[in-house]
Amino acid sequence: MTIPSNEILSALAAEYGTPLWIYDAAAIRRRIRQLSAFDVVRFAQKACSNIHILQEMRKAGVRVDAVSLGEIERAARAGFATGTASEAAEIVFTADVFDRPTLERVIADKIEVNIGSIDMLHQLGERSPGHRVWLRINPGFGHGHSNKTNTGGENSKHGIWFEQLQDAVALTQKYSLRLVGLHMHIGSGVDYGHLQRVCGAMVGFCRDLGIDIEAISAGGGLSVPYREGEEEIDPSHYFSLWDAARREVEAHFGHPIRLEIEPGRFLTADSGVLLAEVRAVKTMGRNRFVLVDAGFSDLARPAMYGSYHHISVIPGKTPRSAETATLPTVIAGPLCESGDVFTQAESGIVQQRDLPETHVGDYLIFHGAGAYGATMSSNYNSRLYAPEVLIDGGTHRLIRRRQTFDELLALEDV
Ligand code: LLP
Repeated sequence: MTIPSNEILSALAAEYGTPLWIYDAAAIRRRIRQLSAFDVVRFAQKACSNIHILQEMRKAGVRVDAVSLGEIERAARAGFATGTASEAAEIVFTADVFDRPTLERVIADKIEVNIGSIDMLHQLGERSPGHRVWLRINPGFGHGHSNKTNTGGENSKHGIWFEQLQDAVALTQKYSLRLVGLHMHIGSGVDYGHLQRVCGAMVGFCRDLGIDIEAISAGGGLSVPYREGEEEIDPSHYFSLWDAARREVEAHFGHPIRLEIEPGRFLTADSGVLLAEVRAVKTMGRNRFVLVDAGFSDLARPAMYGSYHHISVIPGKTPRSAETATLPTVIAGPLCESGDVFTQAESGIVQQRDLPETHVGDYLIFHGAGAYGATMSSNYNSRLYAPEVLIDGGTHRLIRRRQTFDELLALEDV
């Protein structure tokens, strides 16, 4: 992301307070353009589901994936159409289970479903013959930036186990469900090695299918660099591999096959930052702690997966003793848990990071926070959801205001 200047970020912090999420619409549009060779780009909105971001996606011709009734609601309110489509649906619901209210809504609004379990086929088939469905296949292997984001193989709960594909197809026929296509998402952080294996598996499953389909989906999982200088995945190479697979599938069926892709982080991660203010600096033994006003209740990824986010400093009014010096620093938040640390390994061990000399009143920028940032926030410790701002060209707008204490307590009927 071309990060907005320190002056702009400081001005936004002064206007809206911290912690504050800031996104850049141009960066999102740039990512969308990089995937334009795919027939359909379907945004996995779990990465960043603010309705204004969804509207930006819709304006750019992107379609949407929903994994819950809440995400269906968001998509519908952002203007994505429900109802039966003759081709690529605007909303596809992807899950491994139907909870009861979601099943009702999916049937009532004829929302296309990407089926992740045999039970879902029974539950939908018995009620809604003719419904358009995808089959999400677990190919027996997976890959992720952490074990928690590996969505393939026998340790993952996701998808229909590949050995049950024929059973699933038989059920679509029994219930007269309309099979749109096959889908695979083996995890977040796919590399080229795994990609070839996934593409090969997709071609094999299509050949074994025995009935016709109109589309295949490459799932999501495209990585973005989180570390400075990290190499970036080449989307055109990614497309070439999938396009070659698609051609083999087309040769098998004898007609064109639509190729969809379903990224979350690739579209929004580097469009967003989290801005926080330094509120305390203290040394404990060999560790120098810089404590900010954002915690894992805001940005959960480091505490949850040991994820790395590049962190930079906007100096405040306190002058630094030496402009170029960096200090080994542990960066942490305000929560009541020792795990509320932004610099930690997946094991939970606290790590030091070289940071310029930092004082109370400086701002820290957490980069690469536009995906799985605000969407994974919680009200833990009764902290309020932070606001979100969208920058577009020379202007910006508040796309979510800060939650209030009345809103925090509203459900408790006080
Ligand atoms: N499609 C399906 C079916 C998925 O389950 C996911 C992510 C995606 C697409 C998008 O994956 P992406 O392109 O964003 O990697 N909270 C974790 C990521 C969990 C992803 C879950 N599923 C994180 O912060 O890294």
